Amino acid sequence: MSTPTAAAPTSHPAVVSWVEDVADLTAPDEVVWCDGSAAEWDRLTTQLVDKGTFVRLERKPNSFWCASDPDDVARVEDRTFICSRFQADAGPTNNWMDPVDMKTVMTEHFRGAMAGRTMYVIAFCMGPLDAAEPKFGVQITDSEYVAVSMQIMTRSGTPVWDTLIAGTELVRCLHSVGAPLYPGQADVPWPCDHTKYISHFPEERTIWSYGSGYGGNALLGKKCYSLRIASKMAKDEGWLAEHMLILKLTSPEQRVHYVAAAFPSACGKTNLAMLDPTLDGWTAETIGDDIAWLRFGDDGRLYAVNPEAGFFGVAPGTGVHTNPHAMATIERGNSIFTNVARTDDGDIWWEGMTDTPPPHLTDWKRRDWTPTSGEPAAHPNSRYCTPIAQCPTVAPEWNEPGGVPISAIFFGGRRATTIPLVTESRSWQHGVFLASTLSSETTAAAAGQVGVVRRDPMAMLPFLGYHVGDYFQHWLDIGTRTNAGLLPKIFYVNWFRRGDDDEFLWPGFGENSRILEWALRRIEGTAEADETPIGLVPTPGALDLTGLKFDHTKIAAALKVDTTEWVAETRLIDEWYARIGGNKLPDVLREELGALKLRLADL
Ligand code: GDP
Ligand code: PGA
Ligand code: MN
Repeated sequence: MSTPTAAAPTSHPAVVSWVEDVADLTAPDEVVWCDGSAAEWDRLTTQLVDKGTFVRLERKPNSFWCASDPDDVARVEDRTFICSRFQADAGPTNNWMDPVDMKTVMTEHFRGAMAGRTMYVIAFCMGPLDAAEPKFGVQITDSEYVAVSMQIMTRSGTPVWDTLIAGTELVRCLHSVGAPLYPGQADVPWPCDHTKYISHFPEERTIWSYGSGYGGNALLGKKCYSLRIASKMAKDEGWLAEHMLILKLTSPEQRVHYVAAAFPSACGKTNLAMLDPTLDGWTAETIGDDIAWLRFGDDGRLYAVNPEAGFFGVAPGTGVHTNPHAMATIERGNSIFTNVARTDDGDIWWEGMTDTPPPHLTDWKRRDWTPTSGEPAAHPNSRYCTPIAQCPTVAPEWNEPGGVPISAIFFGGRRATTIPLVTESRSWQHGVFLASTLSSETTAAAAGQVGVVRRDPMAMLPFLGYHVGDYFQHWLDIGTRTNAGLLPKIFYVNWFRRGDDDEFLWPGFGENSRILEWALRRIEGTAEADETPIGLVPTPGALDLTGLKFDHTKIAAALKVDTTEWVAETRLIDEWYARIGGNKLPDVLREELGALKLRLADL
């Protein structure tokens, strides 16, 4: 093996010695320091085509189809660990292992893991490079798929290497697919190990990921760094790292508001981030679709930055009627499609892209597929990976190092019952209470059963780097750091409530603009709301439903606050709060729950 340091594009000595140590442990054939250039993209994508991982798409410029191992299609929450020094700091919602024990176990998995492969070293920055305090990372990986995906998803390569100097703080991200190649052994299109570990060492700002190539497990700048590690940084430094999209809305009167929204994975963030408003005269522009870092500005308002540079979006359900802007983004090429179906003429297809499927496809398991096959052609968690800069609705502010001031935060989940279409919180504290009780049906974005209701506080359940009780206290503390009038107003939404016929009670997608419009009018003091035990909901007639072709009795049902359902819900919240532990659950949240029960009993 060539000496890894010879070609190092950095004088950050700690990075160089770490790379040497990892190379000694993992024994790759070669070490490549990534420069993030177009030439590098061409070289690696060609290599991926040659070895059968990628198929070049004839119908999309510079774009590739990719099918993973059928057992490596989603985040693995039961194999994800927060290895804080003390178990109590990981809290009751995370898997924990002692950091020394975890490193001992994982070191043996990493030993020789890159044999026969190339080790790539990727320098990246989460958020604009010209931020006041740019947040850096270096990822080591033995996957070309990861290397090219990181080029899309982060700001990476030479400009980042040039910025790193001795002592620059950065998150160390170590990744291997865990599939060494021995002399004479043939490779497979999607190497991975059956055993997987996605481990975080929050005190050391370090991530070790082993055995998976799937985005959420392997593109370590994303959920692992920007949520799990960053949530801990944010707690220590007085800001928030959240699972939120960021959207710019301009009213017909040219008033501009920026909003953020947190929904669990596969519950509508990317779609809302690219909203095509059906309300006349409104414009929506995209700033981020998955992660928001929120910090106070000098004016006492919360400003949001999107740390990412690409979308890693759920493919099924994305079509010209639901998300035309996502379709236009991928049409421009430079994209990777994983576990979708491929058409015979070299394009991609998935359920929901068009009303009728093509007569013949290659499905995500590389099999012949026809409409009578009886199985979806694309995996439900199949993804497109595409640069945000290509999005036709991208707001120029997406690159603003100081971020954008947030007027409203929306929390939501996927609930067939109980949760109304929209509720406004009474105060920051009440909003934190609602968010702490957020719940959603599980989706295909994580391995395991789909459709089971679980609590997912702030949509952060799988992404918290520390104790959930401390996290709630941190949210409450943020609310005391500025004038209450400067804080974003908090709303709770549910696009997924269903009627007795099991059909959605709200059309969703572009029509969600009507809910955002009501919320912004609430902020401006010009929209009506009814006081209910759970918060403020639109009065009949307060939502602008002009031109909406949808059964209005269904909308009334979507907005209903059903006391019986809510009494049952408070019992589930009791169980959830009991899990957090008495000494860690902030008293004010318990009091909020008590007050809600009293208001429900008064009816
Ligand atoms: P994300 O993972 O939170 O970014 O979720 P996506 O925006 O990718 O959406 C996940 C799935 O939910 C996709 O299949 C979408 O088509 C669907 N979806 C998104 N928004 C809505 C909505 O407003 N209503 C309904 N019914 N489905 C939606
Ligand atoms: P999302 O993120 O589903 O929230 O878009 C990707 C993931 O969780 O794997
Ligand atoms: Mn998304």
